[in-house]
Amino acid sequence: MREFQGAGDPMRLKIAVQKSGRLTDSSLDLLSRCGLKYSRGKDQLMCYGENMPLDVLFVRDDDIPDLVQEDVCDLGLVGLNVIEEKRLAFQARDVGPLFETVQLLDFGRCRLCIAVPDGFAYEDARSLQGRRIATTYPNVLSRFLEENGIAAEVVVLSGSVEIAPRLGRADLICDLVSTGSTLAANHLRHAHTVLESQAALIRTPMPIPLQKQEWTRRLLMRIDGVEQVKGSKYIMLHAPRSALAAIAKLLPGSEAPTVIPLEGRGDRVAVHAVCRENVFWETLEDLKGAGATSVLVLPVEKMLA
Ligand code: PRP
Ligand code: ZN
Repeated sequence: MREFQGAGDPMRLKIAVQKSGRLTDSSLDLLSRCGLKYSRGKDQLMCYGENMPLDVLFVRDDDIPDLVQEDVCDLGLVGLNVIEEKRLAFQARDVGPLFETVQLLDFGRCRLCIAVPDGFAYEDARSLQGRRIATTYPNVLSRFLEENGIAAEVVVLSGSVEIAPRLGRADLICDLVSTGSTLAANHLRHAHTVLESQAALIRTPMPIPLQKQEWTRRLLMRIDGVEQVKGSKYIMLHAPRSALAAIAKLLPGSEAPTVIPLEGRGDRVAVHAVCRENVFWETLEDLKGAGATSVLVLPVEKMLA
C-alpha cells in the first residue's frame, strides 16, 4: 500500500458529507465503493482516508455548499434542494464564481413541497395569494412565487417548519418531503411540488492545485463508474443464431452484445451483454420465449468506460 502524508496535509482532497441524515449512509457507501478505506470514530467531525489522500468532513448538509464555495472542501455530496437554495442565495449577493454541480447521484430522492393543513382548500398556485408560508428554503420558494406571479409572505424558519401552522406562525409550509410521514404526523397534506431533489456531487469554484488534480480525476471517474453500474446487470445466455436479432431487442438498455460460437453447435451461440437497467423476471420469460436457454443474470460490481 502506498504511503500518504499526514492528514493535516493541504494537498489531501477534502470532501464534505452530511453528518447525520438522509444522505449520510448512501454518501459513505458511495465513497467505500470508490475504494476508500477510512475509520470513523463516534462523533468525529473528520475521518482520514487510509488508502487515498482523501479526507471526509462530516457537517450539516446546509453547510456543505458554503464549505465548497469557500474552498475549505474541494468536493461535497449534498441534495439539489440545498444546492439550489444556496446557489440562489449566493447569486442574490453577487458572489462569483460559484461552486459547480459535477454530477447527479442516484440516491437521496425527495421533493420540496407546498403542504397545507387539513381543511385548507388548495386548487393551484393562486391559492397561495396573500398567505403566510413557513420554510427553510426562502430563495427557492420566492422564485416559485415570482414565477407564478403570487404575492405571499415568506416566513423564514431555521427548522421544525411542520409545526408552524399549528402555532399560528404561518398558514401553510414549503418543506422537504421524502416518505411523507412528517406531513402526516402534523396533519398536513402535499399540495404542490416546487423542486424534485436528489443527491449531487459539487466542486469548488477554485482551480484545484496540481498536486490534488490526479486524485480528483480518479475519484470523479470512480464515482461515475459506481453510478453507472447501479442497477446494471450482466446477462449470459445461449440462443439459436436465428433468434439473435429478437433477443438483442429484449435486452434492456444494452449496447451491442458479445456473440460467441458454441463448440460443435453451429446453430447455437452464447450471448453476453451488460444491461444498464434492472432485469425483471418478465424479461427472462420473454428471452426464454424467444428461444434463449441457460440464462444467467449477474450483478456488475465495477465498470470503467
Ligand atoms: C426534512 C423535513 C422533514 C423531513 C421529511 O428534514 O424538514 O422534517 O425531512 O421527511 P419525511 O417525509 O420522510 O417525513 P431533513 O431530514 O432535511 O432535516 P434537516 O433540515 O435537519 O437537514
Ligand atoms: Zn438540512
